[in-house]
Amino acid sequence: MKDAFGLPQSLLVLGGTSEIALATARRLIARRTRTVWLAGRSSPDLDAAARHLRDLGAEVHTVAFDALDPETHEAVLGKVFAEGDIDMVLLAFGILGDQAHDEREPVSAVRVAQTNYTGAVSAGLVSARALQDQGHGSLVVLSSVAGERVRRGNFIYGSSKAGLDAFAQGLGDALHGTGVHVMVVRPGFVRSRMTAGLEETPLATTVQAVAAAVEQGLRRRSETVWVPGRLRVVMSALRHLPRGVFRRLPV
Ligand SMILES: NC(=O)c1ccc[n+]([C@@H]2O[C@H](COP(=O)([O-])OP(=O)(O)OC[C@H]3O[C@@H](n4cnc5c(N)ncnc54)[C@H](OP(=O)(O)O)[C@@H]3O)[C@@H](O)[C@H]2O)c1
Repeated sequence: MKDAFGLPQSLLVLGGTSEIALATARRLIARRTRTVWLAGRSSPDLDAAARHLRDLGAEVHTVAFDALDPETHEAVLGKVFAEGDIDMVLLAFGILGDQAHDEREPVSAVRVAQTNYTGAVSAGLVSARALQDQGHGSLVVLSSVAGERVRRGNFIYGSSKAGLDAFAQGLGDALHGTGVHVMVVRPGFVRSRMTAGLEETPLATTVQAVAAAVEQGLRRRSETVWVPGRLRVVMSALRHLPRGVFRRLPV
């Protein structure tokens, strides 16, 4: 069960090697998280992530999970929930893709959409039902500012995140009053392996800052978290710019 401050004892990460998710897990283990499930594609990185969190004192399990294989989500995640209550699910998987390449190769673009959006629709619904059945818990979804106002330079990724964000908001409304809390996290540019080698955008942040914002959001039972917080104002302005003006911005 969560403590009085809303922090979880047990955590399930979907996208178990995500740098943002692992920073969040480290932070929560330093508070009171004791059991961590890392769900992800089997790899040496997934095993290394599990060893790393074990060294911090948590009981850590890995489970094979592929966002691109939604038919398996019910069975895979069902087995995790059957082992005991999960206080928090962190939906962290995602791919950035390569916009220029993906515009030329629609099958690659579809892979971005299927991973980030339809994979999350499936895993999100399965997780939400399991949380609802146990009567408590948080589903924390890593969305992105990229979905708030979709840019020409990354509209394939951005549109997948816009879909994910809208889905997660609707799911949060559907679960309102059930004891299950859905929190949408919208980071800007985060320095992680996903963005390695890319030019930073203003207000770039760190995985540790996202982890801290997630902790604060859990404590406050927030529905939406921006990282850094100033992005809320910036994006509110950008969102309302006329298309013709937005198109000419160097973003
Ligand atoms: N970094 C940023 O600037 C930024 C900003 C806003 C939002 N976000 C979002 O935050 C989340 C985590 O990003 P990150 O920065 O931590 O990047 P990351 O370290 O590259 O993590 C991405 C994760 O997604 C997993 N994944 C990709 N395809 C998958 C699939 N088909 N099935 C299961 N897992 C899959 C990867 O697993 P493998 O090890 O198997 O590849 C990895 O665990 C993503 O959803 C991302 O879109 C990131």
